[in-house]
Amino acid sequence: MSRTANTLTRISPSALRRALDPVSRRLLDAAVQATEATGTLLWAVGGPVRDLALGRPVRDLDLATATDPAPLAEAIAARLGATVHTEPRFGTASVVIDGHRLDLAATRTEHYVRVAALPSVRLSATIEADLARRDFTVNAVALAVTGSGRGQVIDPFGGLDDLAAGRLRILHSVSYHDDPTRLWRAGRLAARLRLLPTSETVTAQALAIAFRYFDAVSPRRLWREFALAAAEPRPGAAFALLHAWGVLAATHPSLALTSEASRALAYRRGPLDPALVLAVLLAQRPDEERAAAIARLGAPRSAARAAEDAARVLAAAPDPDSLDTLTAATTDARLAALWLDPARQRDLQSALRRWERTRPHLTPVVLRALGVPLGPALGRALAELRRERYLANVRSAATARNHIRARFVSEGTSR
Ligand code: CTP
Repeated sequence: MSRTANTLTRISPSALRRALDPVSRRLLDAAVQATEATGTLLWAVGGPVRDLALGRPVRDLDLATATDPAPLAEAIAARLGATVHTEPRFGTASVVIDGHRLDLAATRTEHYVRVAALPSVRLSATIEADLARRDFTVNAVALAVTGSGRGQVIDPFGGLDDLAAGRLRILHSVSYHDDPTRLWRAGRLAARLRLLPTSETVTAQALAIAFRYFDAVSPRRLWREFALAAAEPRPGAAFALLHAWGVLAATHPSLALTSEASRALAYRRGPLDPALVLAVLLAQRPDEERAAAIARLGAPRSAARAAEDAARVLAAAPDPDSLDTLTAATTDARLAALWLDPARQRDLQSALRRWERTRPHLTPVVLRALGVPLGPALGRALAELRRERYLANVRSAATARNHIRARFVSEGTSR
């Protein structure tokens, strides 16, 4: 992979406004106006500044403030008629309007006592200290949007230089120890922004894997990361990096990408349903390995079912007995199998669709009139007519009648 050079866009509050969709722009404007009376300092921080620098649309608006964000959130919501959620314990608040969200957080330092623990948070930190607790240099950049320093870019770790040079650099050596899910974040960011991890980042990743930091991460958090990776614009690239770095195998040994899975996901555009990606990754695994990986990931029932069904679809043959067990397979499962083994699955799945459309030539009423008794024999007769029609052994209602007379009536109904 060659290192990418990015041309950065000039970062300023007005450029930020322009990069936002109209609703988020109203949220930002309301936030800035609400601080005028109080003189509260506000910074856009992390993702929005990074994406603005890259000239990408800014989707999520994250603002940091040096004071309690709750009154500010209330003031913004009052101006716009929006909804507020506050988490006083964590010093965070959000304002939601028309499905758009502004996140406000008090600047903080964090201290992690053990791997993947919830951090103990200390509020009232400087913006520089707040940036220092973050994951990667490209995310440790802030833009002041209020106060006398309005327009000032705070970039203590060279995040913009790294962004321009296409580098993903871990902010501090214990970043992955604090939060091992940052390895998943690294895969997403590197794939999305075409960044290449620096050597110290690669070393930190290898150490995090060697010291089994993932063992301390809950299934719920792993599934969240998995789903976010599936939702990336280039999920195949994200999963390929996570595989190459050993992150998938460290999450669970059965998650490593096979060459078929890698081909299946390459060039697919996201967001993809995480159930579909899970099915692609696990359909070729033995049952026990698949079940263990599903449990470790905390995958919801629907995703687990997609993976199990995909395994059955892959293993099926185009005969009615096999196809009958597949009719309940989910759409994700069928698609995963098709992506994994396109040549064989095209025929198998068209056979499956034909099987699903095939109806017996005769109805139960006609079968009764022919002398088939009510009860299991009637069900068997219908199933047999469907099967014989699918196999093209019975091609008309007349032949179907003869078939029934021979098999279910002349023999009596003792079958
Ligand atoms: N962050 C972090 N460690 C994490 C999660 C988040 O340091 N495990 C920091 C990063 O500075 C990040 C910010 O919190 O920029 C906000 O997190 P989030 O909204 O999840 O990330 P974004 O950078 O906005 O990225 P995305 O575009 O993927 O949403």
